[in-house]
Amino acid sequence: MARKFSNLNLSNQEGKFEIRKMRPNHLPYVVAIERQSFPQPWSYSLFLSELSNRVATYLVAMWEGEIIGYLGLWTIADEGHITTLAIHPRFRGRGFGKRLLQYGLRFIQEKRCREAFLEVRVSNWIAQKMYQELGFQPIGIRKRYYSDGEDALIMRKEL
Ligand SMILES: CC(C)(COP(=O)(O)OP(=O)(O)OC[C@H]1O[C@@H](n2cnc3c(N)ncnc32)[C@H](O)[C@@H]1OP(=O)(O)O)[C@@H](O)C(=O)NCCC(=O)NCCS
Repeated sequence: MARKFSNLNLSNQEGKFEIRKMRPNHLPYVVAIERQSFPQPWSYSLFLSELSNRVATYLVAMWEGEIIGYLGLWTIADEGHITTLAIHPRFRGRGFGKRLLQYGLRFIQEKRCREAFLEVRVSNWIAQKMYQELGFQPIGIRKRYYSDGEDALIMRKEL
């Protein structure tokens, strides 16, 4: 059954797992996960400015009240963009990343997006596998997209 989204008052409580809208007081936990997840992590101030970006929605995943991951989404007209996604290393491989992304995809569908896009490092086969399992397909390469020179694979999913 389709889950109803009451504007941005998000809730997805399934036992100890919850998804909530990201708030400034979550950022120390988010930035700590970010630093353990990416070679060129986003800063606290970048996340903070994203929280006031009109086209952006940032969500946190919680397990037993602890922030264990987050997801960033932009919705621009009928396109959704995944801007970031990470799960704390200690909580990886337990299905949380997939559940968070599935929730985000339903959210942007509710916002009338027809397709979703993302970029992922060509070396990041774990994330690519997850995206493919959720219906994303590779559509191209952005050469030297990352500042260390690595290429990005562009992936797209029809919603
Ligand atoms: C990518 C990431 C968000 C996945 O989160 P996760 O909670 O560990 O993933 P899940 O447990 O929900 O697994 C989702 C799918 O990813 C793939 N996957 C996850 N861990 C894997 C592993 N160790 N080996 C192979 N595939 C793996 C599988 O396809 C899995 O689906 P399945 O278990 O049904 O086969 C997490 O690894 C992470 O934070 N990585 C660092 C940041 C990052 O790379 N973000 C993506 C940037 S584009």
